[in-house]
Amino acid sequence: MSVINSVVTLAHEADVTVIAIDSPPVNALSADVRDGLYEGFKRAIAADTKAIVLICQGRTFIAGADIAEFDAQPRGVSIPQVQAMIESSPKPVIAAIHGTALGGGLEVALCAHHRVAVPSARLGFPEVNLGLLPGAGGTQRLPRIVGVQKALEMVTSGQHVPAKAALEMSLVDEIVPEGQLRQSAIAFARKVAAQGKPLVKVRDDNTKLEQAKGHPEIFASFRKTNARKFRGFLAPEYNIRCIEAAVSAASFEKGLAFEYELFQQLLNGPQSAAQRYAFFAERQAARIPDVPDDTPIRPIKKVGILGAGMMGGGIAMNFANVGIPVTLVEVQQAALDRGLSIVRKNYERTAARGGLTEVQVEERIRLIAGSLSMEDFADCDLIIEAVFERMDIKKDVFTKLDRICKAGAILATNTSGLNIDEIAAVTKRPQDVIGLHFFSPANVMKLLEVVRAEHTAKDVIATSMKLAKQIGKIAVLAGVCPGFIGNRMLMPRQIEAERLVNEGALPWDVDRVLYDFGFPMGPFAMGDLAGLDLGWVKEESRGRTLREVLCEMDRRGQKTGAGFYDYDENRTARPSPVTEKIINDFIARSGRMARAISDQEILERCIYPMINEGAKLLEEGKAIRASDIDVVWVNGYGWPVYRGGPMFYADQVGLHQVLAKLKELQAAIGDDFKPAALLEKLVAEGAKFADFKRAQPATARSIHSHEGQLQGTLSNA
Ligand code: CAA
Repeated sequence: MSVINSVVTLAHEADVTVIAIDSPPVNALSADVRDGLYEGFKRAIAADTKAIVLICQGRTFIAGADIAEFDAQPRGVSIPQVQAMIESSPKPVIAAIHGTALGGGLEVALCAHHRVAVPSARLGFPEVNLGLLPGAGGTQRLPRIVGVQKALEMVTSGQHVPAKAALEMSLVDEIVPEGQLRQSAIAFARKVAAQGKPLVKVRDDNTKLEQAKGHPEIFASFRKTNARKFRGFLAPEYNIRCIEAAVSAASFEKGLAFEYELFQQLLNGPQSAAQRYAFFAERQAARIPDVPDDTPIRPIKKVGILGAGMMGGGIAMNFANVGIPVTLVEVQQAALDRGLSIVRKNYERTAARGGLTEVQVEERIRLIAGSLSMEDFADCDLIIEAVFERMDIKKDVFTKLDRICKAGAILATNTSGLNIDEIAAVTKRPQDVIGLHFFSPANVMKLLEVVRAEHTAKDVIATSMKLAKQIGKIAVLAGVCPGFIGNRMLMPRQIEAERLVNEGALPWDVDRVLYDFGFPMGPFAMGDLAGLDLGWVKEESRGRTLREVLCEMDRRGQKTGAGFYDYDENRTARPSPVTEKIINDFIARSGRMARAISDQEILERCIYPMINEGAKLLEEGKAIRASDIDVVWVNGYGWPVYRGGPMFYADQVGLHQVLAKLKELQAAIGDDFKPAALLEKLVAEGAKFADFKRAQPATARSIHSHEGQLQGTLSNA
């Protein structure tokens, strides 16, 4: 074996040369990897062998361009130079894939003449999630192999295709036994070399593209079907255009040039900056400055959940999905049966869509054992209560848990805003108490707010963060305060939305502005969906607010066919003259005049108080960093990821401008808009939220602009 450089080696296995990359954690295409590959292929081509295998050590095949290098000055050979070297090899090159072949990694593999993979391997183009497109020929080569329709689906979804599906679409040539990738790839290479057929380059095979020529309806229908999903995003559309170009361009090179041009536009645009920021922000959120990575973890082999309602059932599914047995406890048999049947329905719906086999459905359901006795929590390692949101009930539950649960068990509450210190205080083990705030539907929503109470032990935090990842959630650590991060910031937005309506804006105006900004729906449509009677008590209702009046009229939201909006039988919302009249009456009674309110004012009054509340969370230490707040809003509250998050957005708008507007609103409306001290301070210093650091170890690396290297990596395209 010869060493090419620190990350690439070359070995001759009789008549086959094996080039291996060993660059943890994910064998990304760093400058060293690119240099090593270029030199390695040069030598392999010159060697007296008949074929070349490209393989990776460690957990995965190349997972893409090296994002960690994006900040640095470009150096070394570019990806296209490596690709050209591989593609022009006079002897067959076989890419041997395990783990994930993603982005630039798959683009390199597509320049090999053949690909083999183990069954657990997955292949994909996740660039769209970074607001980008595969910029090293991916949009041009992929449709030549898998056809236009599948290529469109892959590049716009970013999904990782399992090896079996990849084989069916000819993205890989053969699936080889797990654990025997190297020898199988060598054997495959020998077979190809022995056949001695002319080598086929993906770029030269236009058969599948020819089939799509003259069929613009493929693209039109794809755009139409996905319009809702792609709304507001640039990258999906740019990916589509590149695949259109693959079909219509006069040559492969012309298509490649078009792809490069659009890639540059995305890379230099605001959406990709926001989405790349969000990628790093998500990973950063897992780091807790005073809870080191090597903090011991408490083993979680069995989970108890109290409450089999929508929330409890959804939480249970998360654990069953990863093979962790759950004890689900309810007070009444009927409620337990109802909860378990909803879980079953959810799984069956997934199975009907092809997401699970019937066997898997049964396996998962078997992992969830129903019970009517909290005593059954005795052998659980983690217990999560998801009962009614009332302090007296929570205290009662935790008193019982303290008595029943074994020593060292983690006692978690799913409260969405109650004081966890107060809950923990009823136990003799406050160090074991933590908040695990799931979002509804808990089996679907990615966000988990992990709430650290005053006495929560570090290993309880570390265990919760790790467990979150295991069940596919994105966890953010929050401190105890009313509403934690998400709901606390939602509150001022709700107050402001209602105040705007009291001044003359209509609910559908407020909703439209926020929808156009990129939220999936506005606060009033959301209210109708959730039910206006949430927290409404009929006996105490006195027609004081719009919501109370609507509830008294039995307009309690979508479920009653009317709320802020009127609904038809398909639950399509229409602005309601009834609501409008109630609003006008309210305003008339107050003695004020309704006034015209601009969209800009609606937006600023809804968004800026949220930003201000975010600043307070930071100054109070309830959130570790501004990007954590953004992760909460993007993953739990529908903030459009192409706008990064409220704090990132504020940095883009300019904090001085946010501050000036808040001051103006404070003078006009009142102290609800009083700027946070931190905001004043940052503006005085000419700083941004991104610059904010509490006194904490410097674990964080910069999560802003990393264009440099990516631009450099591709510059020779
Ligand atoms: N470059 C550099 N580092 C990367 C990386 C990449 N492409 N992908 C992951 N990493 C790092 C992570 O930051 C993380 O580092 P820390 O341990 O320091 O936090 C480490 O590798 C492990 O990553 P995860 O925690 O995400 O591990 P996982 O096992 O859950 O997931 C993965 C692995 C599926 C590869 C996931 O990391 C991932 O999706 N990575 C991004 C892949 C991607 O987007 N590739 C396309 C890049 S853009 C491109 O290639 C443009 C082009 O067209 C040329």
